[in-house]
Amino acid sequence: MENNFAINTENLSKSYNNKIAVSNLSLKVNYGKIYGLLGPNGAGKTTTIQILNCIIKPDSGKAQIHGFDIMSQSDNVKKNTGYLPETPALYEKLTPEEYLEFIGELYFIPKIVLKKRIIDLLELFDLDNRKDDLIGNYSKGMKQKVNICAALIPDPPIIFLDEPTSNLDPASAKIIKDLFKSLILNAQKTIFLCTHLLDVAKELCDRIGIINNGCLLIEGTPKEIVDSGNYLNLEDAYLNILDISHNKDLLKWRS
Ligand SMILES: Nc1ncnc2c1ncn2[C@@H]1O[C@H](COP(=O)(O)OP(=O)(O)O)[C@@H](O)[C@H]1O
Ligand SMILES: [Mg+2]
Repeated sequence: MENNFAINTENLSKSYNNKIAVSNLSLKVNYGKIYGLLGPNGAGKTTTIQILNCIIKPDSGKAQIHGFDIMSQSDNVKKNTGYLPETPALYEKLTPEEYLEFIGELYFIPKIVLKKRIIDLLELFDLDNRKDDLIGNYSKGMKQKVNICAALIPDPPIIFLDEPTSNLDPASAKIIKDLFKSLILNAQKTIFLCTHLLDVAKELCDRIGIINNGCLLIEGTPKEIVDSGNYLNLEDAYLNILDISHNKDLLKWRS
């Protein structure tokens, strides 16, 4: 496999009880880009991100993350990635500082470096004025910010985010989207995110893959996807590519 990509997968497949969750998924993500895997509930997005983070094993196929094989070099994969799960577990009786210290220690980050990184992240996410509160007292948006800080604590080159803004109000979602943009611009990170939200994909992603029933249906820049069928916009393209026909009528009516 070519290993000059941040993420490179070949024919990844995974079934649960004979039901296909991911089918022959092949994709490549360049360094310094945001790649969005877009698809409806049950499409296979979380399964894909769990395979790429060595949480579950594929039935077949191969993948390299930062040049490391997900099966035989999973420790190296984990050292070079940050991961925001779809339903993260936070310790509600800790302050964000204590929680991030705990996560940092799992990654063996030296104490002095860790302290500084935590201060910087809490400031960046505007959590520094509430840093002595217990996480249990935080709002959903604030909790999600702590989760994202946890994914960034090891300062990894590649960050995986499973539905990072799905449960957030528009203002919190905007702060988080802006932060991802600045991570790409200023810190040269690679981001792989899963979402069912078209606006997130359109606003953030350099490239998008649309997945349904475990199959990657199309891949390209948002513009390439819209141009692929002379669609009106990304929403029109998405609905047509997934063949959600009653919505097509609705779109016609609206336009
Ligand atoms: N642990 C599991 N056990 C059985 N089926 C699962 C499990 N995880 C996911 N699935 C199934 O795999 C398919 C893909 O799910 P998932 O990857 O969570 O999709 P998405 O994240 O796109 O909503 C769905 O049909 C789902 O029900
Ligand atoms: Mg999911």
